[in-house]
Amino acid sequence: MINKLTSIKAGLALVMLGLIFGIGLGVTFGINEALFEAYVTRGIAAHPELHDANSPEKIWRYVQRAHFHSTGIAAFSIGLLLLVSASSINQRFKMITAILIGLGGCYPLAWFTMFIVAPTIGTGAAHTHPVTELLTYIGVGGLLLGVAILFANLFFGLFSERNGSW
Ligand code: HEM
Repeated sequence: MINKLTSIKAGLALVMLGLIFGIGLGVTFGINEALFEAYVTRGIAAHPELHDANSPEKIWRYVQRAHFHSTGIAAFSIGLLLLVSASSINQRFKMITAILIGLGGCYPLAWFTMFIVAPTIGTGAAHTHPVTELLTYIGVGGLLLGVAILFANLFFGLFSERNGSW
């Protein structure tokens, strides 16, 4: 079993790091939720002109989204990686496909970035911050591309060891 995972190991490492990040955030919420609230309150107090009455709740929701998206995406990604491993995709493409799927873990980091920057630059600017956008494109783009390759192999035999296509 472990040997069979060799070709997907790099992608699996990315997915597990995402899972650890999500669980870690949840544990931190449980241990010290006030830490997050204090961070938001301090930032808003320093930049009141950028915020309205909804800002505290909105920004707190960003970090919750980082938490549940990272654990949720990691959960389905582990399933996808097992399919990649069991598929007939050739070895080189197995590695690439697994890494692309693993990059899905960047998407929750976009929510986390928004949480970090929103108190000081405002919620609108946090949405369009270059790091937020980069992590979103890499995360969602990588995941979709990886899923597309897997789909093409499972249902149309592309990227396969046997027929050597691609
Ligand atoms: C790559 C996959 C995913 C993408 C691109 C995605 C994207 C989004 C977006 C754009 C929103 C709307 C946020 C807003 O209202 O501004 C959202 C909300 C939400 N997503 Fe996802 N999502 C993904 C996977 C998941 C997974 C796996 C879960 C479950 C574990 C999940 C659970 C939720 C929930 C519960 C909300 C509502 C959040 C709220 O009301 O604050 N998503 N997602």
